[in-house]
Amino acid sequence: MSSPVPNKGRLGVRYYSVVAALAAPCGAFYLPGVAPRQYDEGATVELMVDKLTSSKAQLPFGYYTLKYCTPPGGNIQHQVENLGEVLAGEEIENSPYVIKMKVNRSCAELCKQPLNKEERDKFRHAIDNEYMVNWIIDNLPAATLYTELSNDGKATQQVTLPGFPVGRVEDGHYYLHNNVEFRLNWHKNPEKYEGFRFVGFEVQPKSDIGCGLGPYELREENSDVTFSYSVDWIESDVRWALRWDRYLKLTNGGQVHWFSILNSTAIILFLSGMVGTILLRTLWRDIAKYNEVPTAEEAKEDAGWKLVHADVFRAPPHSTLLASLFGSGLQLLGMSAVTLIFAAAGFLSPANRGALLQSMLLMFTMMGYLAGYSAARLVKTWRETVGPQDLFTLGLYTGMLFPGIVFLVFFLLDLMLWSAGSSGAVPFTTLLAIMMMWFGISVPLVLLGTRMGLSKPPVELPCKVAMLPRSIPSQSAFSNPVLMSLVGGVLPFCAVFTELFFIMSSLWLHQFYYMFGFLVVALLSLVIICSEVSIGFTYLQLTLEDYRWWWTSALCSASSGIYLMMYSVVYFHMWLNITSSTATFLYYGYMALASTSFALLTGAIGLGSTFIFLRAIYGSIKID
Ligand SMILES: *[C@@H]1O[C@H](CO)[C@@H](O)[C@H](O)[C@H]1NC(C)=O
Repeated sequence: MSSPVPNKGRLGVRYYSVVAALAAPCGAFYLPGVAPRQYDEGATVELMVDKLTSSKAQLPFGYYTLKYCTPPGGNIQHQVENLGEVLAGEEIENSPYVIKMKVNRSCAELCKQPLNKEERDKFRHAIDNEYMVNWIIDNLPAATLYTELSNDGKATQQVTLPGFPVGRVEDGHYYLHNNVEFRLNWHKNPEKYEGFRFVGFEVQPKSDIGCGLGPYELREENSDVTFSYSVDWIESDVRWALRWDRYLKLTNGGQVHWFSILNSTAIILFLSGMVGTILLRTLWRDIAKYNEVPTAEEAKEDAGWKLVHADVFRAPPHSTLLASLFGSGLQLLGMSAVTLIFAAAGFLSPANRGALLQSMLLMFTMMGYLAGYSAARLVKTWRETVGPQDLFTLGLYTGMLFPGIVFLVFFLLDLMLWSAGSSGAVPFTTLLAIMMMWFGISVPLVLLGTRMGLSKPPVELPCKVAMLPRSIPSQSAFSNPVLMSLVGGVLPFCAVFTELFFIMSSLWLHQFYYMFGFLVVALLSLVIICSEVSIGFTYLQLTLEDYRWWWTSALCSASSGIYLMMYSVVYFHMWLNITSSTATFLYYGYMALASTSFALLTGAIGLGSTFIFLRAIYGSIKID
């Protein structure tokens, strides 16, 4: 089939087949937890329908909002498995297609529907907005095979993309894809199991008046539409455990992915190794110098970071706010780390819809304890005496500020989806359930953590804070903290840049994301880079005798959130084809949340690692 690839045509993906060999071994562990199923010959293989999606409009709709054939008796049944599925707006329902294992059919009529003007316009609207039909058999989504055209116009690579378009427009004529050819694959292995397993689901959508009588155009004269389908069962040597591979390898630019990520990770680690070595050497020199017994003259000339030892651990302004932001950042870090480890271990396969979202939500809730505890430890370190007042304000900030913003934005976006009648709107009961999780589990956990943290002794510091603050020498324009912070954020952003493209495609172009192993590597390099950036800049700042590092160390890394937001704008204009204002709002709303979370996460890494670093270096010099 040579129809143009929607949205993908502009990606201009090239494949590096050399690296393809590398991608193969990762196939085996996608699906623990989802058991294989055997069918006898002639057994019914049920086809389920999912929401209609569009990367242009971004508003998902239920399958039956268009006048497709309904199951006999109009008996539509929903299937919802978990909270994550509801949040993701999944709407899985049964369908009237009759498919039996290893039974071919050719051009079977499904149903004949009369279309009135309104129903026809709905179809046209869906075609205009590039809506895709998503079908599922045995937990495997339908895929369409496209031929990717290379720059010189020759067909080169076959690309498998999930779903198929509702219809197509040619010269202002709307053709509905009312005939579908199923190409289904079965696999047998009589030594291991009886029956046949379902291993491949490819569809070829066509527009057809009758069987091969020419395309069906959505026009007033064509008031009736006949939906029909053919089924071809073909034996395949793909094992059940590997049946997802073709989707995963060919979408997301498969091999390119491996290549680019290996490349960037190597560069990042190399650079950070270099920077780290330089920093360490300078430090050793400093520490050795400071610890030499000085002559009277040298003592007077003492300069650099040793001078500010009596102020370096002085509490920053707005300390409660900073502490709670730090707590929320660690909460996000903990959530990402645990979720990613689960995902990389294969527990959150794409076959398990909604599992990723659900486990993120759960982990975030659970990490409330960590947030409260770490925020409280920090506050306790700054102020020796804390009262119940602190417990209250700190708990309130940590438990409500960031989650509150997220919930508010989510709620507003949901209202918008709801008023547009989209199936992506989360029902009121689910919102209520989230509120219950928030106030019933998360907030109490934050409070508990805060209480525990406050009851601990303060973190031991290598030098005492003087009563009176030291005056800070006037700084040059280049060491301006705001400027330094803005420059600092570039590096953490670069650390995740390559992965970001693929994550964005999976979020907004409905492609599968699966290479969680790489995301773990990306998170690790993010931690390293953020620490280095914040430590490096703080070191510079302290040698200039400016000891106001608490906020700067956090902001240096956190400003990467600004770059993420800027990248979102670029991505929007380069890859997305969004025209409606609702979808634009949705996009920017979610990206703003993502950027804020990213800023919090990176900021917490920066502050935390700098604190550990400063404790270490001030602990290793003699202070009289
Ligand atoms: C079904 O169709 C496929 C492809 O056309 C063919 O290879 C296969 O032999 C057919 N099976 C039966 C049972 O006719």
